[in-house]
Parts: sequence; structure tokens; C-alpha cells
Amino acid sequence: MTTSNPSRRHVVLAYSGGLDTSIAIPWIGEHHDAEVTALSIDVGQEGELTGALDRARRNGARDARLVDAKAAFVREFLWPALQANALYEGVYPLSTALARPLIARTLASVALELGADTVAHGCTGKGNDQVRFDVAIHTLAPSLTIIAPVREWNMNRDDEIRYARDHHLEIRATVESPYSVDENLWGRSVEGGRLEDPNRPAPEEVFDWTGHPETWPKEAETLVVDFERGLPTRIDGRALDPVDLVREMNRRAGAHGVGRIDHVEDRVVGIKSRETYECPGAIALLEAHRSLESLVLPRDLLQFKAGVDRRFSDLVYEGLWFSPLREALGAFVVSTQEVVTGSVTLRLHQGSVRAVGRTSEYSLLAPELATFGAGSRFPQELAVGFIHLYGLPNQLAHARRTAARASTEAETPAAGALLNRP
Ligand code: ARG
Repeated sequence: MTTSNPSRRHVVLAYSGGLDTSIAIPWIGEHHDAEVTALSIDVGQEGELTGALDRARRNGARDARLVDAKAAFVREFLWPALQANALYEGVYPLSTALARPLIARTLASVALELGADTVAHGCTGKGNDQVRFDVAIHTLAPSLTIIAPVREWNMNRDDEIRYARDHHLEIRATVESPYSVDENLWGRSVEGGRLEDPNRPAPEEVFDWTGHPETWPKEAETLVVDFERGLPTRIDGRALDPVDLVREMNRRAGAHGVGRIDHVEDRVVGIKSRETYECPGAIALLEAHRSLESLVLPRDLLQFKAGVDRRFSDLVYEGLWFSPLREALGAFVVSTQEVVTGSVTLRLHQGSVRAVGRTSEYSLLAPELATFGAGSRFPQELAVGFIHLYGLPNQLAHARRTAARASTEAETPAAGALLNRP
């Protein structure tokens, strides 16, 4: 730790160890006359964070810290999203979007704890993440000033590398990938580079968690996920803590290539962009959860909840995690989950996951109900009356329209005939 200088501003930077946030350390010092504390937040991204912290110090950070937020990430963010079957535009499990409010909350609380009045993040001015960070920080800690160097500095990749060289910065040894990658327990987002042409199939090199298709087993594999109140607790009978359970699902489903997503997405800032995702564990757990709900929730609740789930997903995407509406919808979702208890059998094969079996003590698919009150004989005579009443509004509407049309048709030629009379 370099000794702090009380006359300079103190900025806490959300630091990933990548090129942008590495450069941000001296850049903030120069352009904002400030000292920087680099804060890495572990939300389950692969890659080594402690080496990144050492580099941050050597690159001029006053201090570098790591907060392990994995358990909070699963319990407070991923589990509510799973219970809400959260998918943006029907396909994206919101992995990046779900981590942002947690990172923002952690950043704000560390800044306040250290007496810093400013936070910084490495988002560009074109994406959703700046919206998510800024809205969350404005909401939770409105006294903090926000600096977003990448949004301000107008450097391209080459400028950045030159800046790093001129400032003798130590950057990650690995060759910087041409793609922008974001990772956490719920998935991996990859954009930019050759992915920018939406007509060009994603090259294999962008995938990491799902292996090459040639390595996907020829044989299908089944696995059983147990749920209690809408939350997964066991895989193949083995109890796992939430973080390990998500990791295990990523590993098992990823080995079969499950969870590759190629999506043209609508961003909050009004532009479309092509994103590639790998979310094997999320996609498998979402499939299992949705399938169990279909067994235990009644039809009207399933239909209503689908609308709530969709709105919940949009709010997460749009950076409104810390909003009264998201919280209220979340509370509704939780109130539906008591019966989402049981087991689902998933079949993993060649990039796909399907629920092929589900069982629950709350199952509403009850063969004995069909014979309720009538022994083994279904009361077919009641069905006849039911169908009459059920179809009555349509029958009436059809009859009225037919009659009205017939009378118009009957009169029109007559009126026409009158006018045409010489
Ligand atoms: N489009 C995704 C979202 O807004 C991911 C954004 C981050 N992606 C990235 N490749 N850095 O949630």
C-alpha cells in the first residue's frame, strides 16, 4: 500500500484486472487528481483475481481489495431470478445484468466505509452496464460521484495499449482477446470483434465453458435436480451449497454443450447488438424449474406468473433491480414457490437440455381427481352441459352476426334496385 495523501481525492474503482480498468488506475490519478483503491468483486468469474490485485498495486493503486460476493450473488440475485424463470427476450438468462446491482452495491458500501466520495467503473457509454451501475449507485448512495473513464477518455484499443506502454503499466500476460468478455457464476457474455456481423456464425474461439462440439458426448446423460420451494438443493441426490450447485450444473451441462446462445439483443440505450452467451448451468436449471412449475402450479397462476416473470426480467435487464416494482414482483414470485418442491430429470445431449421427468408431492396432475366423487366413472353427462355453457357466448355471437348479415344482404339488393330504377 502506498501512503495515502489526504489532500487528494479518493476513488474506489470496480476493477476486473483487464486492460480498461488497469489503465483507469493512472488515468483517474492524472485526470481527476485522485488516489485509487482498486476493488475486485468475486462473482465467480474464472481467472485469477489475486494476481490482478498485485498488478493494481504495482500500477499505482493506493490499495487493492477483493470481496468474495459469490454466496450473496447466488442467494440474493440468482435464486430470485431462477424462481422468476428470468430470461430477457426469452433467451438470455441475464447473467451479466444480475451481477451489476451486486457489484454496484458492494462498490458503494466499500467507498462509504473508506470515506471515499467517488466511485469508478469501466463501462463504455454505449452499453447497458453503465445504466445498471449508475442507477444502482444513485439509488443506494446518492452522495457518491461516479467516474466512468472509458466513457470519458475516447481511446481505442491501440490508444489504450500505447497508454499502458507509455505509463509502464503491467497488463495481463495473456494476449488481450479481440472480444469483450464478462463472466460470472450464471454465465459468460461475449461481444465485439468478429461477432459484430450478426450474419456471421460465432467462431468456435469465442466459446470456453462448452468445449468444442466434437467433444460433446455422443450419448445422452440424465441428471436429477431436487427443488425445495423453487430452489435447487441437490443434484443426483447429493446436497450442494448454492455456489457449488451452480458450478456443478455449469460443469455437467457445459460438457454437453448446453447453454450456447446467439442473440441479437435490444439494449436499454436503444441500439441492437449481437451477443453470444454461454450459460449452461442457468439454462439447465431454468428448464428444470419451469418444468416443475408446470406440474404444481394451476393454469391461471402459471399464465399470470408468466407475465410477472417477463416484467421481472425486463426490469433486471434495464438496471432497475433496486426498484419498488422489482421488489414487489419478486415478493409475488416467492409467494408462488412453496409448492415448487420435487424432482426433475433432465436429459443433456448435443447442446440441448430437456426435462424428461418431474415429480412432486404437490403435483396437480392427479389421476385420482378424475374419478373424484364418481367412483371410477367420469361423469360424461356433466361434460355435455359444461360444454354447452362454455360455448354459449360464441354460439350467441355467431347467431347474431349471421342473422344481421343475412338481413343486410336481403335489404341491400332491394335498396340498390330502388336507386337503379329509371
Ligand atoms: N448484453 C449483455 C447485457 O447487457 C452483456 C453485456 C456485457 N457483455 C460483454 N461482452 N462485456 O446484459
